[in-house]
Amino acid sequence: MNSNIQEKEVIKRTEAHVKQLFDGEGSGHDWWHIYRVRNLALKISEKEGGDLFIIEMAALLHDLDDWKLKTEKEASRTEAWLHQVQVDNDQQERILQVISEVSFKGAEVETLATTTEAKIVQDADRLDAIGAIGIARTFAYGGNKGRSMYDPETPPVMHNNFEAYKKNNGPTINHFYEKLLLLKDRLNTVTAIEMAEKRHTYMETFLARFCAEWDGEI
Ligand code: ADP
Ligand code: NI
Repeated sequence: MNSNIQEKEVIKRTEAHVKQLFDGEGSGHDWWHIYRVRNLALKISEKEGGDLFIIEMAALLHDLDDWKLKTEKEASRTEAWLHQVQVDNDQQERILQVISEVSFKGAEVETLATTTEAKIVQDADRLDAIGAIGIARTFAYGGNKGRSMYDPETPPVMHNNFEAYKKNNGPTINHFYEKLLLLKDRLNTVTAIEMAEKRHTYMETFLARFCAEWDGEI
């Protein structure tokens, strides 16, 4: 697929496909998460480079086969879609490689992004997990899964393997310590590191305030 017009058409169809699948998803992984990740990835790429088609396709498709949203036995929806829109084999592989490297797998589990495109999409997904949006998504996720908001008797756990991270069902506030506050030091690109700073500080302020109100100090 090398003509610009063809690529634009594939992106348009992919956007419509993903929008229809994710519309109204209630755990913070809805269409608007995908939309923000795509826009953040394109913005980061203005400074960091990378292949725009691969970046945009991977951002749009990055949650289609997420372990939280489908059963393990289901065939890859991403591969089926790439096949359906007739993306070249080489590009299919590059898009799938990016998606396979995006996800966070636990505080102590390394998640290396090996290409510029993977670094950018991983950073975009992580930026959307922090700051005001990150806070909102996390409580949406916790509510959707019926988790308690906070329980002072259940401390956070630093997961050292993906299986344990997946099984975790602790209170929502713990997720800030198990993942969200760690993300600013797990970014790849200078551009995203700069963008993360204010988002990170905002979460720290929120947590301090949450604790102060919990203790009736303010
Ligand atoms: P990634 O996008 O790296 O795969 P996830 O999909 O696991 O990350 O998480 C995306 C968002 O979903 C998190 O940033 C958070 O807002 C929410 N989330 C995931 N797991 C939990 C959890 N155990 N408790 C609260 N929120 C969660
Ligand atoms: Ni995501």
